[in-house]
Amino acid sequence: MESVLDHRSARALLDWHIALGADECIQDMPVNRYELPDAAPVSVRKMAAAPAPDAPGTGAPQPARIVPMAQVDPVAEARRAAAAAADLPALREAMEGFSLCDLRRGARNFVFADGMPGARVMIVGEAPGREEDLEGRPFVGPAGQLLDRMLAAIGLARGSDQVDGSVYITNVLPWRPPQNRDPEAAEIAMMRPFLERHIALARPEILILMGNHACDALLQRKGILRLRGTWAEAAGLPAMPMTHPAYLLRNPAAKREAWADLLAIQNRLARAT
Ligand code: URA
Repeated sequence: MESVLDHRSARALLDWHIALGADECIQDMPVNRYELPDAAPVSVRKMAAAPAPDAPGTGAPQPARIVPMAQVDPVAEARRAAAAAADLPALREAMEGFSLCDLRRGARNFVFADGMPGARVMIVGEAPGREEDLEGRPFVGPAGQLLDRMLAAIGLARGSDQVDGSVYITNVLPWRPPQNRDPEAAEIAMMRPFLERHIALARPEILILMGNHACDALLQRKGILRLRGTWAEAAGLPAMPMTHPAYLLRNPAAKREAWADLLAIQNRLARAT
């Protein structure tokens, strides 16, 4: 069909729809991308056609052995890929190419990390939201802006070029879940090996676990309102669970406790220098 819009007007209209929150092009008939038969991830298709051993006693090669999809263990695959990553760029590449997590198919961008690798503080959030998905950087939307103000209050900034004053920020999941739904247990489990490797390679002194899903991934515990404010141990490091900035935006009264948690972090950093 010939469009009555010129390129510039079509582009402005698209920008307007995106600004209003549209994040999907809808066709005349609905498409369930999670059920497309030919949408099997490349690495799964490769694994499914793994070569079979020679036929016993004959030395003759057998036809390719078909491994049912259900036998591909995403957690084991993630462990193998994460362990093989020798540095952060390699980890980024391994995660971006990890095809067993369906979230990647609905996301616009892969969101790895922001800030300074090697900073003393590493923040672990939940998953990209709309703004993060559009920009490909964690915590850039309203919750991220509050996070930046919280960090500034204790002298930290993701843009700082000083190891002492900077932070490194990532999420449990690097792809936005559809409609910002909660991460599923299987998604957290398959991305956990990458997160643990991420922490090991970034080498922070302490972790800040933002919200329930970060606690679930790294402490295997939920109940952020009980966990917050008490140092725990995650990935072999001191970890402070805090209420997520998105929660603080909805519950401003909880900022008082978050402030206490920030002071505990500041004290710990000061004691360790
Ligand atoms: N919430 C998160 O947990 N992470 C982000 O990157 C953005 C919002």
